[in-house]
Amino acid sequence: MSKNPYPLYVPPAMSDETFQALAVFITLNLGIKMPLEKKTMLQARILKRLRALHISTFEEYCELLFSKKGIRDELPHLFDVTTTNKTDFFREPGHFEFLATELLPNFCSYKPCSHEDPVVFWSAGCSTGEEPYTLAIVLEEFKLGNPWFHYVILASDISTQVLATAKKAIYREDKIEPVPYELRKKYLLKSKDNTEKLVRIIPRLRSKIRFFRLNLMEDKFILPSKVDIIFCRNVMIYFSKEIQSQLVMKFHAVLKSKGFLFTGHSETLVNLNLPFQLIIPTVYQKK
Ligand SMILES: C[S@@+](CC[C@H](N)C(=O)[O-])C[C@H]1O[C@@H](n2cnc3c(N)ncnc32)[C@H](O)[C@@H]1O
Repeated sequence: MSKNPYPLYVPPAMSDETFQALAVFITLNLGIKMPLEKKTMLQARILKRLRALHISTFEEYCELLFSKKGIRDELPHLFDVTTTNKTDFFREPGHFEFLATELLPNFCSYKPCSHEDPVVFWSAGCSTGEEPYTLAIVLEEFKLGNPWFHYVILASDISTQVLATAKKAIYREDKIEPVPYELRKKYLLKSKDNTEKLVRIIPRLRSKIRFFRLNLMEDKFILPSKVDIIFCRNVMIYFSKEIQSQLVMKFHAVLKSKGFLFTGHSETLVNLNLPFQLIIPTVYQKK
């Protein structure tokens, strides 16, 4: 394998053939659609891996990736560079409002809930953690008025890099702007070092979330328990309709009876003819 000589080496452009091979591989392993329009974006992202590995061409990268060693060692890095991880605290805030003011009061009136049998949430495609931590803040607030309420949050992603950030729970101050001031004071700790402008989620909230790596393309999800409420937002948008339907059926299998699925605002399951009932736009209940 020829080595590229310097870190900002610019390799020859990716051929359409190589792009096609990578696109098929990525769709098969991650579910993510890779039409030809994404070639420039993919090339830029994989360039980081060429530089890190001192590889000279995209063709050599494919040779490595498609080998036994590549599948073992390089695949996680490919997942890190090809996924889009944009997220925010209180993203799509209407969902959290609906959860706390309508869904939970109603749901908890017929679902028994105790320390031994808590309400189980799953943030599937949790990225750097803003979504599950927002959920934890909202659920802690709900618990204040409803002390009998108990919950746990499962949070998964395919990218080990984003999961490491999520577990650390340390964020730049500008990232927490969507968190209402009163809640920041309760649930976030400021860094003692004033020059740093960092905050950390308080330990009590961190202890509520169990982060783990899971590829949503797996045939079947093995989770610690069945789930009451799934948040899978802004993940399916990258998948084909067929993969979306398969994924929603796997969610159906791990949801408890009458469980809920929240999707992102640009993701609709209407027309997919699945065993879910639309409650409000982007919130579905298992039939
Ligand atoms: C745009 S982020 C959305 C984060 C969060 N749910 C939100 O709405 O803010 C999409 C996340 O889905 C993850 N993802 C993409 N494909 C995946 C797959 N096949 N299995 C698990 N996670 C995946 C990405 O790594 C990324 O962190």
